[in-house]
Amino acid sequence: MDPILTGLLKPKSIAIIGASTNPTKIGYKVVLNLIESQYKGGIYPVNPSATEILGLKCYPTVNDIPYVVDAAVITVPAKGVLEVTKQCGEKGVKGLIIITSGFGEVGDVELEREIVRVAKSYGMRVLGPNIVGTLSNSDHMNASFAPFLPLPGKASLVSQSGALLIAMDAATYTRRVGFDKMISIGNMSDVDFAELIRYLSEDPDTSCITLYVEGLHDGREFINAARACKKPIIMLKAGVSEHGAAAAASHTGSLAGAAKVYSAAIEQAGITQATDLNDLFDSTLALSLQPTMKGDNLLILTNGGGVGVLATDAAEKYGLPLKFAPPEVQEEMKKHMPDFGSAKNPVDMTGMAGNDWYYETTKSAFAHPWVDGLVVLYCQTAITNPAEIAEAIHRGIKDAGVTDKPVTISFVGGEECDNAMEWLVERGLPAYNAPDLAVKSIINLRKQQQISEINNNGSYNPGKIDSEKARAIIAVARKAGRDALTEIEAKQVFKCYGLPVTATDLATSEEEAVELAEKIGFPIVMKIVSADILHKSDAGGVKVNIKNTDQVREAYRTILENARNYKPDALIEGVAVQEMAPWATEVIIGSINDKTFGPTVMFGLGGIFVEVLKDVVFRVAPISVEEAMRMQNEIRSAAILDGTRGELPRDKAALAKALAAYAYMVDDLKDEVAESDANPVILYETGKGVKVVDARIILTKK
Ligand code: ACO
Repeated sequence: MDPILTGLLKPKSIAIIGASTNPTKIGYKVVLNLIESQYKGGIYPVNPSATEILGLKCYPTVNDIPYVVDAAVITVPAKGVLEVTKQCGEKGVKGLIIITSGFGEVGDVELEREIVRVAKSYGMRVLGPNIVGTLSNSDHMNASFAPFLPLPGKASLVSQSGALLIAMDAATYTRRVGFDKMISIGNMSDVDFAELIRYLSEDPDTSCITLYVEGLHDGREFINAARACKKPIIMLKAGVSEHGAAAAASHTGSLAGAAKVYSAAIEQAGITQATDLNDLFDSTLALSLQPTMKGDNLLILTNGGGVGVLATDAAEKYGLPLKFAPPEVQEEMKKHMPDFGSAKNPVDMTGMAGNDWYYETTKSAFAHPWVDGLVVLYCQTAITNPAEIAEAIHRGIKDAGVTDKPVTISFVGGEECDNAMEWLVERGLPAYNAPDLAVKSIINLRKQQQISEINNNGSYNPGKIDSEKARAIIAVARKAGRDALTEIEAKQVFKCYGLPVTATDLATSEEEAVELAEKIGFPIVMKIVSADILHKSDAGGVKVNIKNTDQVREAYRTILENARNYKPDALIEGVAVQEMAPWATEVIIGSINDKTFGPTVMFGLGGIFVEVLKDVVFRVAPISVEEAMRMQNEIRSAAILDGTRGELPRDKAALAKALAAYAYMVDDLKDEVAESDANPVILYETGKGVKVVDARIILTKK
């Protein structure tokens, strides 16, 4: 681990600059918190007008401290922070925890940058500014003005909102979800989410990383860090709006809102997305306490049919439908229930289930090789005691002798159930007051396993590409003062990256058009070529199914006439003569250059699916062929690709390759391509490939 970052986050000594004797001030509270959390390292208050604070010797400046100082918590007003930063640099402090507000968040970005610049010139790192501080149970360190250390646990939180961190800190006790660290990240002037993910991935006291994110500075770095992380990450993203999507020039641009791209990037990074604060806690509980689920066989034990049905519904809703337990599992279960129980799945032991049955079924189910994950449900009854049932379940899990499978539990009832669940959580067994939450949480553990398998998938190998030629084509357009390529140019660029485009050539006279048509072979399509006319059909600039030379001549004349009428000042280069691809399923591929995540590809079915239903998915480029295959399976109308109403399945393998090639292209040309569309792309039946029929590339502003 980076020793400087360790010095900041796991300091052996801390100076509090701006420490105060006044109990209402933050500078007082931080000193008190360090003492009360029983921090074992040196605590050195700094204040020029005090000699002692809370029984500790106080120093006029950090340089007067005669000991090594690893971290400095800064609680002086904004105007004094730069000077204090310099003093810390001279002292050899490793990291600054700047609680002070009044920088970038209120528009003073310059001062914030200057502080980071000065800090870095001394080799220091900066957490904040505008933060609560940082808390760690394993280090007995509350270097913050949050009231106390959180309930101890194995998750670690990184929060962009200080207020939310404080609220979550207190809620850990009522929600019974434990955390080891809580790190406030504020303005992220230096240390950011990506770096903390990397740090916590190596932290022995953290088993799961919980994030509250409002915005990212470098989305790609974030994705890379999350992908490389060895631990589950759960994230609540706030502050997303679709604002700004409408101004885009391409089809893809108009469909790509910030929320969609964020959501795709989070998914791609292998992060579990929380829907709200409750979900953030619930998901953290299981992800921090249990191993991932290695297969799809989920078994549910219950003493109540109702909660069993609710759990069954939830399993389907969250994407892991229950299967009937195999006969040998059913035989085993039947030994511990009355004849009128059901051993299928959910295993319903009926309301007669007592401690022994719970113990026996839990033990044998958890130990059975068919079972990949177990959910144990219990409804409070008059003939059972929740505390004893909890004890039986815990013993059953322990005696099964299995440690690489997950289990989640739900007790539905009153206060005694709550107490029993608290007891279970203290023993590392996630317990929830609703069956669907127990099921959702175990399915999160299944998804985590799938994510880690996916992240091990290889990257796309583009084979032979001609990046230089693509750039030369773009350079010609730029030289001509254009900010968009013509269709012919765009297709040539696509071709440089191995994308299968329809044969297309430019005719600047009727004669040339006839020659090209005969060379390509009838039927053909003819289209206007003008960077000033992006929507060619609207301009009457497209003629299809042209079958002979007479029709070529007529089409040539009509297209030019229509284009001139549509936009008299348009610069017209000629008419594209192109191969007419036989009709099949239309799909759209496109890209945008997202301001947070960079080049991002989109895929969807064409026509009403994209126009009306907006049934599209996004991925940050580049992507592997496997990822491209998953994109196809993710759209709502995915079934169409597999062949519906007697149609043959479509060539998904060829489409996946094209998608991966496209993503490679837009990533490779990210400095040149702002937005692009391949629309439509015709997708044929399996084995017959894809063909890009129309292409559009909008260039970046330079
Ligand atoms: N070296 C050492 N001590 C100094 C220095 C210095 N260079 N300069 C000032 N001090 C002392 C002051 O004398 C004072 O001590 P005193 O009480 O003995 O007089 C102490 O530092 C604090 O300075 P004050 O001027 O009293 O400032 P105050 O404590 O009122 O506010 C603070 C400082 C807390 C940093 C404030 O400016 C601020 O930024 N508050 C917001 C903090 C915050 O909310 N952070 C984000 C959290 S996220 C969320 O929303 C919860």
